[in-house]
Parts: sequence; C-alpha cells; structure tokens
Amino acid sequence: MSRCSLRARLAPCLSRQVRAAHTGQVPAVRKDNSAVRAFSEIPGQWKNSVANLYTLWKMDGLGNIHRIMLHNFNMYGPIYREKVGYYESVNIIKPEDAAVLFKAEGHYPKRLRMEAWISYRDYRNRKYGVVLKEGEDWKFNRIVLNKEMISPNVQGNFLPMLDEVSQDFVARVYKKIERTGQNEWTTDLSHELFKFALESVSHVLYGKRLGLLLDNIDPEAQHFIDCITMMFKTTSPMLYLPPALLRHIGAKVWKDHVEAWDGIFNQADRCIQSIYGQLRKNPDADEKYPGVLASLLMQDKLSIEDIKASITELMAGGVDTTSITLLWTLYELARLPDLQEEIRAEISAARIASKGDVVQMLKMVPLLKGALKETLRLHPVAVSLQRYIAEDIVLQNYHIPAGTLVQLGVYAMGRDHRIFPHPEQYRPSRWVRSQSHYFRSMGFGSGPRQCLGRRIAENEMHLFLIHMLENFRFEKQRQVEVRSTFELILLPEKPIMLTIKPLNFTQK
Ligand code: HEM
Repeated sequence: MSRCSLRARLAPCLSRQVRAAHTGQVPAVRKDNSAVRAFSEIPGQWKNSVANLYTLWKMDGLGNIHRIMLHNFNMYGPIYREKVGYYESVNIIKPEDAAVLFKAEGHYPKRLRMEAWISYRDYRNRKYGVVLKEGEDWKFNRIVLNKEMISPNVQGNFLPMLDEVSQDFVARVYKKIERTGQNEWTTDLSHELFKFALESVSHVLYGKRLGLLLDNIDPEAQHFIDCITMMFKTTSPMLYLPPALLRHIGAKVWKDHVEAWDGIFNQADRCIQSIYGQLRKNPDADEKYPGVLASLLMQDKLSIEDIKASITELMAGGVDTTSITLLWTLYELARLPDLQEEIRAEISAARIASKGDVVQMLKMVPLLKGALKETLRLHPVAVSLQRYIAEDIVLQNYHIPAGTLVQLGVYAMGRDHRIFPHPEQYRPSRWVRSQSHYFRSMGFGSGPRQCLGRRIAENEMHLFLIHMLENFRFEKQRQVEVRSTFELILLPEKPIMLTIKPLNFTQK
C-alpha cells in the first residue's frame, strides 16, 4: 500500500480513535469497513519476557540492540511487539507511523523511564532535572529552559563561545601534528573530541572555559568525562533488570553506576558553586553573555535546586553525544575524499560570500548540514525514540491502547531502503534536494520533548567541521568498516583511526 493511501485510510479512523479514547472504547470497524485488529494480534515475542531476556543475554544482545531491532522489522514487518525483562513496547519504523505517534504524545510527553537514573536520584536524594521530570513540573522547567537554550534568538549568545573553542581545537591539532615531526597525525581522535565537547558545552553553560584543550588539564575534568562514559555503559543492562534488585544484591553494575553519577554530580556541583559564588560577590558584572547557568540564576524563575539538577544533566548530555557524532562524520568524510572536497569548497565559498560573518556563513552550508543529518541517519546517538502514548491510536491497522510504550526504531528507519534509497551510502545531498523529509530526520527527536541541547549541539558541530575542514584533510588508512555497539547511546565498536594532514602542506 502506498504511503498516501495508508495515511488516507488512517486519517478518518484516527479522528474516531481520539473520540473513542475519551469514551474509553475503540472502534472495531473503520469507515471503509476494514476491521481494526486487536493489540494482542500484533506480531512479536511478547509472551515470555524472562525467556526473551535470557535469549538476549545469551546472544550477547545488549550491545546489538539496534541490529536486533533491524532484524525484527525484517522478520515481522513495520510493527512488532516485544517484552524483554520488565520492558515492554510496540516498535514501529515508518515515518507516517511516527507522525501518528508524536500526535498522540499528549501535553506532557513521556519517554521510556530511565529507572537506573531515577533510582540513583532517589538513592542519593537528589532532585530530578529536565531529563527525568514529568508532567506539569517538566513543562514548567522546560519552558524556562527553552527560552534560554533553544529559542531562535539565543543562537547569537552561543556562537562566539562555540567558535572560540573550535578555533582552539584547530590550534591544538596543529600542535599535535608539529610534535609528530611528520606533517601528519594518525590518531583515534575520540579522547580529544570528548574534551572538545565538554569544553564547548561548559563554555555555554558557565560562560567560562575549563581549559581542557591545554596540555595539562584538571584531573577532575578528565574524571568527569570517564564518569559519563561509565554512566551510559552501566545504564543499558538496567533497561531490562530492575535497579532495585541489582542494588539489593550489591551487583557491580549498580555500584559502578552510582560511582559514575557521583563523579558527574561532584564535578557539576563544583562548577555551579564557583559561578554562584562569583554572582553573589559581583552581581552587577557587565559581562556580555554570562552563560546559561548565570542567566537562569539571575532570572529567578526556577529554584536553585531545579537549576542545579538540569545543568548537571545538560553537562552530562553534552559530551558523548556531539563528540561521537563528530567522530562518525570525520570517519565518513575520510572514506569519501571527493565529498570532503565538495564540502570544503562549499565552506570556502560561504566564507567569502559572508565575509566571515559566522551567522551568515551558517546559512550558506547546506551540504555540510546535510552531512550531519546523514551521520545521524546512519549512526544515530539514540537507537530509538519512545513515547508512552496519551490516547488510543491505530498503527498499521492495529489498535494500540493509551499508556502503551511505543518506540520508533530510528536506527532501523535510517537503514531501510524503502525510506532512504541506497541507505548504505553516505549521501549528504539527499537532505539538500527538495524531497519530503517528513518525520525522517529524527536524530534529535521530535515535538516539545525533543533534544533541549539541539541548538547548541548543531552550532557546535557545524562550527567544528567548518574550522577543521578549512585547515585539514582527513584520511583513513584502510577501508575497514567500523560497526557500532549499544551502550545506551551508539558508539563505535573499535577505535576509529584517522590521519590528519594540514591542507596548506599537502596542497604545495
Ligand atoms: C549530536 C548531539 C545530540 C543528539 C543526537 C541528541 C539527541 C537527543 C535525543 C534523541 C533526545 C530525546 C528526544 C525525544 O525524546 O524526542 C535528546 C534529549 C535531550 N538532550 Fe540531546 N542530543 C544531542 C546533544 C545534546 C546536548 C549537547 C545537550 C546539552 C547541552 C543535550 C541535552 C538533552 C536534554 C536535556 C534532553 C532531554 C529533554 C527533555 O526531556 O525535555 N543533548 N537528545
């Protein structure tokens, strides 16, 4: 069935569904007389959750969740139901189904509950930040944070800060190259990128540099980076096993998780205390833009405890996400030298046309922006997007009751040839041409609960790539395919080795 006819068939049915949700009933027959099938008829493995968990464990499935999802869609079709451990969901892949899902997310969209993170907050008696809050409390905090972080007029605040960090990164790479004595540097850039990402997000949040791009860095900051990686890694097993049980039996994964969050909170507390102290001493300092934290403190709309909780989560969410996406982008561009050159030419033309005005320049690099979208299609940070639906809906002609956890398989969608022709090819131009992108670019989520750090992340990554491509050529020694592994976010399975060469040298 074509996408259009499916939509046409769903539309009348959906409006009846919404009405039905209010009356607590589900229509058994659509207007076109086709019967809506029952929830229990959805294909999938959902009858024996313990056996499913055991199979997952035996197949070393934890790191392979994204590939298992892809396999399941190939086996069951565009919708399937699963129950693994205490985690139950309906999984979908089609953009038009995503549209139905996000329309049914309600006023207070709810993602999959991160029980591990919630358990830690409860265990240490710490407040939930915007990532974990729900209902009216989430909405209130999110509206205040949106104004500071994502509304279109805040871009001007962030750009100079992010630009400065990117330029310093370029200087650091030149230094590293010089030290090799070979006019090139072959390296796994991930550790440098973690530092770059933390330096960037901290500059925006605190209005201050942490100095992570210097040779001798604060060991506490390095510890913070290690803690974030550990926090993500220890979260994934707890998606399927209740943290309360793991805590009760003193499991190592729970202890490591607590240690990781302790490290994250301690470092964030130190940064927040230092800014708070400075503000109290010197409240009228006429700095340009003081950073998100100081701005929130001065507005006095959220309690200090709420601000601290969200700033900590923003700091934690702002490191592995952007750094790994940049690493994948460089990996893809190193494999495609002609594309790399094409993007470099676009940047060069944009620099000349904009006379170096960064805001203007960012409007003139569609292929570069397409490259990031393409990276997030093939290597999304989040394997899926999830919502507990607020009302009954129909997906693929199955009735899905309100309250069900529905997951959109973002990784699987990005690799489906019916949605993206030649999905295995990295082609930024597919985002530039005027084909429909309706519910296809899902890397940052959708709707009012989408990524709060999106604007920072996009600007940070665009500027990084602009400066790096203006200065260096990226090469890969061998055409080895690097797969990804799931550690709550998707990471490269093995180190990505890149060779970085200064452009002015190779062009001579
Ligand atoms: C490549 C970079 C990034 C990607 C791909 C990414 C992706 C995502 C996704 C998929 C979500 C869930 C959205 C949904 O459920 O609809 C999310 C939520 C979130 N992200 Fe990001 N993110 C990135 C960078 C960042 C950065 C740099 C920050 C902080 C500065 C951040 C902060 C957050 C927060 C706070 C939420 C939760 C928002 C809420 O629940 O209201 N993210 N992100």
